[in-house]
Amino acid sequence: MAILKVARMGHPVLRMAAEPIADPTAPEVAALVRHMIDTLADADGVGLAAPQVHVSVRLAIYRIPSTPDAPERYRAAGLGEDSQEVPLTVLINPKIEPLTDDSEEAFEGCLSVPGMTGMVPRPTRIRYRALGLDGGKIERTAEGFHARVVQHECDHLDGILFPQRMTDLTTFGFMEEVKGSLMEERKEEEPENG
Ligand code: NI
Repeated sequence: MAILKVARMGHPVLRMAAEPIADPTAPEVAALVRHMIDTLADADGVGLAAPQVHVSVRLAIYRIPSTPDAPERYRAAGLGEDSQEVPLTVLINPKIEPLTDDSEEAFEGCLSVPGMTGMVPRPTRIRYRALGLDGGKIERTAEGFHARVVQHECDHLDGILFPQRMTDLTTFGFMEEVKGSLMEERKEEEPENG
C-alpha cells in the first residue's frame, strides 16, 4: 500500500495541461493507478487525478458512493437520494461532451484545496469517453453528482482547479465555516437537495 503525496493549489503541476498516455496497458500505468486508489481511499475522497499526485498524465480515478454511505459533504455537492452508485472507474485520456446547456451550482471540494469549499456551476448532463486500464473504450452518459465529479477530475488534466470555475466567490470558504452557514441556508431554500 502506498499513499502518495497530494499536490496543493499553487503547485505548478496543478496548472499544467497533462500529457496523453500512449499505452494504457503499460505496467507503470497500472502501478500508478494502484497507488492512486490507496491514496484516494486514505483521503476518503471520490476522485483523484494523476497531476494531483505529481504525475502530469491524462488519467483520473473516481467512484460514486451509494447514497446511504455517503458523507454529508457529497450531498452538498449534489449527491441526491436517486444518485446511482458507480464503482471505481479509471479514465485514461478522457474527453467530455456536455449534452445540455443547463447548468447547476453545488458545493465542491478538492484534495488539492484542503479544507475549502465553494459553489461551482457545471453542465448537468455530459457524455464522456475514455480508455480503461485494459485499453478498452469506456463511453458513458452521466448526470448530477456523477457528471460533476467527472468534470472536476477532467479539469485537473487541463490544469484547472474548482475555484477557477466559480462565478460567485462569496460562497468560497473553509468547509467548517461554510457548513455551519451557507450550506444550511441552501438546504432550507432547496429541501430537495438536502
Ligand atoms: Ni480535485
